Amino acid sequence: MEKTLVILKPGTIQRGMIGKVISRFEEKGLQLAGMKMVWLTDELLSEHYGHLKEKPFFQQVKDSMRVCPVIVCCWEGVEAIQVVRSMAGTTNSRNAAPGTIRGDYSMSVQENIIHTSDSPETAESELKRFFDEKEIYDYSLKNRSSIYAEDEL
Ligand code: PPS
Repeated sequence: MEKTLVILKPGTIQRGMIGKVISRFEEKGLQLAGMKMVWLTDELLSEHYGHLKEKPFFQQVKDSMRVCPVIVCCWEGVEAIQVVRSMAGTTNSRNAAPGTIRGDYSMSVQENIIHTSDSPETAESELKRFFDEKEIYDYSLKNRSSIYAEDEL
């Protein structure tokens, strides 16, 4: 099982879409391993978006993540990182395919509903950045055998 980070961005909270977005992942069959609301600091965002520090929109994207608290989630499942990436759709929501979260709910590059980890390495470091070890829960959904065949687990 893989674990991946999803951040529900401020725009999602402002638009009253928390439930809708979380439902998409639940309905897919992913398991929620951790979730909390947090008001991110500029310092943490500088680390999180460190790869964008030379971009002209660096401060703007960080500020957009501090408009209000965000919701950070850890979703778990077989190949969860790629599954969540595909469900999110392309970064630029205007190009995102209908049926994806961004394709269905947003019109923006920055205000694109969620942040998702893009690789196993990123997922590991991002989960450590936003969660303490004890905030990630190890349990099994009782309907797991209805979600996966035995040889997929
Ligand atoms: S990706 O998929 O992570 O590689 O996308 P990338 O293009 O590198 O974008 C990373 C994050 O930067 C935000 N972004 C922007 N914000 C404001 N203006 C512009 N022009 C812009 N381009 C990219 C984008 O929303 C990504 O945020 P996250 O939190 O990763 O979704």
